[in-house]
Amino acid sequence: MSDTWLPSLKTDTPQAGFELAVKLSRVGVKYTQPSDEVRSSLRSDYDHDTTQLIASSHVIAVHFQTVAAANNWWR
Ligand code: HEM
Repeated sequence: MSDTWLPSLKTDTPQAGFELAVKLSRVGVKYTQPSDEVRSSLRSDYDHDTTQLIASSHVIAVHFQTVAAANNWWR
């Protein structure tokens, strides 16, 4: 993934910011496991596992804090 996929952390709305946080989370997984085939085979490991889904949600929440800070939403 050498192309630019994250030109800015600025988003027009909090909802778009949350979607960016989801993207950041998923791209993190993609960098960690670049094989589409392996990721596809592992998807079923988490899609019915509440603990892993909560863990994914947590990662998104951490990224959302970064996006929110970058957009000055706390002010
Ligand atoms: C799909 C989030 C970790 C493999 C998805 C979807 C989301 C998501 C939102 C789309 C679901 C839909 O539209 O129905 C995340 C988050 C993760 C994570 C936030 C962790 C921080 C993983 C891991 C794997 C994986 C660890 C496998 C190693 C996949 C695959 C799909 C998928 C294969 C379906 C294909 C696709 O839509 O690209 N994930 N996921 N994900 N995820 Fe994850």
